[in-house]
Amino acid sequence: MKKIAILTSGGDNSGLNACIRSVYYSADLQNVNLYGVYHGYNGLINNEFKLLKVDDVVDIIGLGGTILKTSRSNEFKTKEGMQKAYDNLMLHNIEGLIVIGGNGSLTGANIFSKIFNFPCIGIPGTIDNDLGGTDYTLGFDTAVNVALECIEKIQDTANSHERMFFIEVMGRDAGDIALMAGMSSGADAILIPEIHTNLDELFLKIEKNYINKNKSFIVIVAEGEDVGDAKTVEYEVLQKFPNIETKVTVLGHIQRGGKPTYFDRVIALRMGYAAFNALYQGESSVMVGIVNNTIVKTPLELVITQKNELSKRFINLKTIFAN
Ligand code: F6P
Repeated sequence: MKKIAILTSGGDNSGLNACIRSVYYSADLQNVNLYGVYHGYNGLINNEFKLLKVDDVVDIIGLGGTILKTSRSNEFKTKEGMQKAYDNLMLHNIEGLIVIGGNGSLTGANIFSKIFNFPCIGIPGTIDNDLGGTDYTLGFDTAVNVALECIEKIQDTANSHERMFFIEVMGRDAGDIALMAGMSSGADAILIPEIHTNLDELFLKIEKNYINKNKSFIVIVAEGEDVGDAKTVEYEVLQKFPNIETKVTVLGHIQRGGKPTYFDRVIALRMGYAAFNALYQGESSVMVGIVNNTIVKTPLELVITQKNELSKRFINLKTIFAN
């Protein structure tokens, strides 16, 4: 094996650059050239390949975002798009591809590797932490820490005004960011899609812990929550308690940026090294992940159909510390 390629795809997250750097150094150890493909799968289709040099990666371990840029590619979902991508890989004599991304990106890698019999290895990169085969996805830890910092800032002002806040966090259909940031900030209630929300229970808690209590009340709402978004939950609460003052904050894309935490950097290094070695040893269509602090490889079709078990393990704690 002499030439491989790497791309980042889907929503970006902190830790991608640390991971690209790790793959670069792992490949360099075996005298394998690493090509960066820019703009995710669109770059495969549009022939945006660049041979990476040490200067491209040496200083990027602490950078948020991705030096390779990213995209959500509709063209790669078509047969024609995949054919163009394959032709470009052949043009550059690339022998294997590493894809860092979430659910949609790894689904693409799985289909592509099967149709063209082309070696692809996946690395879980998404703040949502919603893939099987790994306890943690790249960027999740940083996103939780960003959310936590923001929630604590809101708590300061909420406490001063004795207000109720509904804080919406990202995660698509997964409640992992809400659960972790909510529990670690001591939020009063956490609403996540994994558990059906009973609004009457929330009302009871507000009655008991907020009404006439001279304190604040913080509700963390995961964006995939079944009752609706933070504005909708606020609306429902105001129907029941029309005289209270409420505020809504949607944290949004701030959770996708910033310097990666030490944890995200270290898992980026471990996953990058493992992904390169899997490719180098002839494996394909697997994702490298970390389960119980050990690198494991799981077939791509399984990681995209299963969700990790992390949130399940914390459900009991949630019911004790926040409903
Ligand atoms: O998948 C990562 C994620 O940040 C989700 O949490 C969120 O729902 C979505 O991407 C937002 O995507 P976009 O940046 O395309 O609006």
